[in-house]
Amino acid sequence: MIRSRIIGTGRAVPDRVLTNEDLSKMVDTSDAWITERTGIRQRHILEESRAASDLAADAGRAACLKAGVDPATVDCIIVGTVTGDCPFPATATFVQKKLGAASGGCAFDLSAACAGFLYGVSIADAFIRTGQFKRVLVIGVEVLSRIVDWTDRATCVLFGDAAGAVLMAASDGPSGVLSTHLFADGSQAEILWQPVGGSREPMTPEALAAKRQYVQMNGREVYKHAVRNMAAGARTALDVNGLVPGDVNWVIAHQANLRILEGVSERVGIPMSRFFTNVDRYGNTSSASVPIALDEAVEQGKVKTGDLLLFAALGGGLAWASAIARW
Ligand code: ACO
Repeated sequence: MIRSRIIGTGRAVPDRVLTNEDLSKMVDTSDAWITERTGIRQRHILEESRAASDLAADAGRAACLKAGVDPATVDCIIVGTVTGDCPFPATATFVQKKLGAASGGCAFDLSAACAGFLYGVSIADAFIRTGQFKRVLVIGVEVLSRIVDWTDRATCVLFGDAAGAVLMAASDGPSGVLSTHLFADGSQAEILWQPVGGSREPMTPEALAAKRQYVQMNGREVYKHAVRNMAAGARTALDVNGLVPGDVNWVIAHQANLRILEGVSERVGIPMSRFFTNVDRYGNTSSASVPIALDEAVEQGKVKTGDLLLFAALGGGLAWASAIARW
């Protein structure tokens, strides 16, 4: 049976670090508040001269290098992002050029916010199983620092900039993606969004004055949905494969907030010791968080051949996703 398999992982993180202490000098907040409510201690911020495609290309290149694959042979690039270089064309096309990837292949973006990376993995898995593309680079990248209001303490403390990537290819062995599961609930689209900048509310001086070009969020509602839906998605992935929580070696979940991960852990019945966490160092990097966590878990030798990995993420849309893979 042909499956898709992750054959390389990579990440790119800006050098500049913004600590909770730094933030407490910018807005009315404190290290104690941020750490207690979110588990975040610092985040990385991209330098002004660089854009999402720069970070994405660096992460993609790192994934190709780890896989021992020449980027010129990558025939599909999928970029999950809500902070791409520009409204169009797709950031993935800039990445294709920067990587020198196969120009006859395809490159496109997808918008599923923090679930964007897992949505991309699901599409890549289908492409590879049907033979449509052979080497698919899936990248999650965000430069959220460009769309948060740095005077709004309720949102600006949460996010960070970064990119993560995986290279996927066909495998006929036991390892690979066992299943992916995608979900959305558009009735909650406006609890987390960036209202201005599209066709609904174009960027006018009035809109800018009302600060509607920045992330707007109902934090409590997002929190409730995140715990409930990420846990439900994770359980679906286990059930479909006839697995139980005890079978899972590592949960690689969206790093939004430590308390959200603890809530998911409790609901799914998998202890926090089997959740990989790095939200303390990066904050919420949206679509980049899952591939960065995977890359670090692999690099640190935590993930071993044969391990069962459970993935879950939720973001604006609301869009959420889960997946199971045998490493
Ligand atoms: N520093 C200090 N005080 C703050 C801050 C801050 N940065 N932000 C809010 N407060 C204050 C509020 O003004 C409020 O004060 P009040 O009681 O005087 O009115 C108090 O803290 C409590 O505010 P709440 O919003 O009720 O705090 P809560 O415990 O819900 O925590 C948080 C807020 C951390 C945002 C939480 O709701 C959360 O994690 N939600 C999920 C949001 C999220 O992760 N979004 C990311 C995108 S979606 C995703 O990735 C899943």
